Amino acid sequence: MNNNDENRIISSKETSGDKALDLTLRPKNLGEYVGQEKIKDNLQIAIQAAQKRGETIEHVLLYGAPGLGKTSLAHIIANEMGSNIRVTSGPAIEKSGDLAAILTNLGEGDILFIDEIHRLNKTIEEILYPAMEDYALDIIIGKGPSARTLRIDLPHFTIIGATTKASLLSAPLRDRFGMTYHLNFYEPDDLEKIINRSSKILDVDIRPDAVGAIASRARRTPRIANRLLKRVRDYCDVKSDGIVNAGACLAALEMLEVDELGLDWIDRKIIETIIEKFGGGPVGLNTIAAATGEDMDTIEDVYEPYLMQLGFLDRSPRGRIVTDNGYRHLGREKSGQGKIV
Ligand SMILES: Nc1ncnc2c1ncn2[C@@H]1O[C@H](COP(=O)(O)OP(=O)(O)OP(=O)(O)O)[C@@H](O)[C@H]1O
Ligand SMILES: [Mg+2]
Repeated sequence: MNNNDENRIISSKETSGDKALDLTLRPKNLGEYVGQEKIKDNLQIAIQAAQKRGETIEHVLLYGAPGLGKTSLAHIIANEMGSNIRVTSGPAIEKSGDLAAILTNLGEGDILFIDEIHRLNKTIEEILYPAMEDYALDIIIGKGPSARTLRIDLPHFTIIGATTKASLLSAPLRDRFGMTYHLNFYEPDDLEKIINRSSKILDVDIRPDAVGAIASRARRTPRIANRLLKRVRDYCDVKSDGIVNAGACLAALEMLEVDELGLDWIDRKIIETIIEKFGGGPVGLNTIAAATGEDMDTIEDVYEPYLMQLGFLDRSPRGRIVTDNGYRHLGREKSGQGKIV
């Protein structure tokens, strides 16, 4: 993560300042988890069925953009199952011995949460396959012709994998998850519920129109909604009587340079750069990154998905293109192709 991303108010990636906020506001059970109704219904049944049979639940893969609630859901599953949860991540497991140590230390019914599971390396993945399928660990002892494998039985456990990039997961690994859920971006109603819930926890006196103003600028992402709420509250504490009403809220958002659709100056810079330097596109992602001075991964993970969702940016085989709506939002005209009003 580059410095810019750390400081960005609307980045959906977790920043250091978010950690405490995320923990305080993280929903603890399915009842508190807002939205994603289909996923919750499915999980509820899977959890109850497993409990009825006295078994562990199947391995679960959660994928979706940053800040949509994957980590929260993993902890909720553990909580609802009454299981212990061990937390690790793809890049943290460097050697096969690391994974072997983690797996052999699990207890019956435990949950192992592997964040950023798409970043596991191939040799580690291969150890994971028999572990996930047969609850066994194959260890190779010795070298050359005298080498032999030793199979160690493992307790029944559940792996919950989380990833922002399901496409980077190898097919054999993906197939070993019994349940795969794609977390969607949130509807404004759900974001309002989340903001109201967070306001209660943080003891913020917020008016309904201010809740709506924050919800519509939160890029359909709970983490951003919570972060905006906190920044708006800080502003109101300092500049007024602490009550978050629409007027104070809009003033705060303006100061934070977040526009009515939740775009900040970097989003606008990306669109402006494509328009000004590349005639509106098509232009490749790496060229955009170089021209804006932003990190290519961050553009791809954070900025671009939302700009595409708004219909401001299009992907073509030859690169990214700014759409008519994109031009319009920035109050620009498309040269040579008639005037856009
Ligand atoms: N469905 C939800 N209901 C209420 N709050 C939510 C929900 N989903 C997420 N949140 C809030 O957003 C914060 C971020 O969610 P979480 O850390 O689970 O996202 P994530 O998908 O794991 O993100 P990342 O990809 O960056 O790891 C949580 O701490 C919680 O406060
Ligand atoms: Mg997470």
